[in-house]
Amino acid sequence: SSNAMWGGRFTLGPAEIMERINASIGFDRRMYRQDIRGSIAHCEMLVKQGIVSAADGRKIIAGLRRIEGEIEAGNFTFSTRLEDIHMNVEARLSQLIGDAAGRLHTARSRNDQVALDVRLWVRDAIDRVEGLLRDLQAALIDRAEEHAATIMPGFTHLQTAQPVTFGHHLMAYVEMFGRDRSRFADCRRRMNESPLGAAALAGSPHPIDNHDTAKALGFDRPMANSLDAVSDRDYALEFMAAATICAVHVSRLSEEIIIWCSAPFRFIALSDAFTTGSSIMPQKRNPDAAELARAKTGRILGDFTALAVVMKGLPLTYGKDMQEDKEPIFDAADSLELSLAAMAGMVRDLKANDERMRAVAAADYSTATDLADWLVRSLGLPFRQAHHVTGRLVALAVSKGADLGALPLEDMQAIEPAITKDVYRALTVEASVAARANFGGTAPRNVKKAVAAARRRFLSE
Ligand code: ARG
Repeated sequence: SSNAMWGGRFTLGPAEIMERINASIGFDRRMYRQDIRGSIAHCEMLVKQGIVSAADGRKIIAGLRRIEGEIEAGNFTFSTRLEDIHMNVEARLSQLIGDAAGRLHTARSRNDQVALDVRLWVRDAIDRVEGLLRDLQAALIDRAEEHAATIMPGFTHLQTAQPVTFGHHLMAYVEMFGRDRSRFADCRRRMNESPLGAAALAGSPHPIDNHDTAKALGFDRPMANSLDAVSDRDYALEFMAAATICAVHVSRLSEEIIIWCSAPFRFIALSDAFTTGSSIMPQKRNPDAAELARAKTGRILGDFTALAVVMKGLPLTYGKDMQEDKEPIFDAADSLELSLAAMAGMVRDLKANDERMRAVAAADYSTATDLADWLVRSLGLPFRQAHHVTGRLVALAVSKGADLGALPLEDMQAIEPAITKDVYRALTVEASVAARANFGGTAPRNVKKAVAAARRRFLSE
């Protein structure tokens, strides 16, 4: 038999394989709350505008609330025959209240209905991600404050470069996640318009008020063009683009955590709560959560790519292709939310090995730049010459197997006669980080200030 919602012009029902390729209920049931919320707002508007009677409106809304309860309680039977969440809900509504149910879809199409549901879902996802990012920043800021003066090696090319503070390093991620938050906020602001009223594509001949539904659903305004309203999924692409960039940040932090907790590094230890053991090697503690957070980045970019490719050749307006928007959107949101929550847990729990980090920071001539800077500031050498002199001093130290600070003054003076014993004070890792006190620099005192500023910028209100 043919479909109860659109079967009027059909004689036969769909092939079994048609039903399977056509149905989205397996995944779009996740939008039931958004669907019901949108339908209630639409129905209230229809009543206000005199398109549906108050009595029918009451029945419809009571029925929708009941359906929401049934779904929440797990008592709702979803049917593949009914394709999607929209028709599953409407069919149940008609079982519950009879003919009045048929009035809900006045001045509406599944095209603007689904555009609305997806928009509401993405908006809710943005709000959850915003909260998770904020929580991750809070964890990083707390640990940065605690480690404002903890010295670690700073790397370029993963080669020892200059000493930095662990707090400063963590605060770098606070900045990145702050920009991610602002990207999601931009996306939310841009997408916050309601597609309702577009109906199938051209608008509606009924005296609807789509300003009213827009307002009721928390949108800033209705969309200005009905064709655009049912056609575009740019907001979902933008959400996934922001999610991808954010996931890249999570992935880099994950990668660092994985390196830091490896045996040759031993900069940090992860807690039992965020590691796993090996089924064969009893000594193992593996950073699986960090590895998975790193890997989710690939999925999230894949999700963005999947929808971008679905959309790129579609003529206006709606095409069934767009039903393929949901799985990538849900997957991107799920993956990012999980990664952010796991990252916050790892950051809160990790134990820093201060002595080890300081020892590694002090090795490998990490304060050679400080020596060159001392030659500039104390002897007035041009930086290029200071760099050259320092290079020769490093070579000498290497040949003796000694640190720079262990080179006798006479050895230094053999290369640059004006050097005084004062130089040794510049060569400690503590002096190195303390000296970098410009705005944005790594000095412990700066990190304390940056922590206070970040609490104001990111965690107030
Ligand atoms: N399940 C569909 C989707 O997700 C709903 C819209 C269907 N509209 C239509 N004209 N067939 O896109």
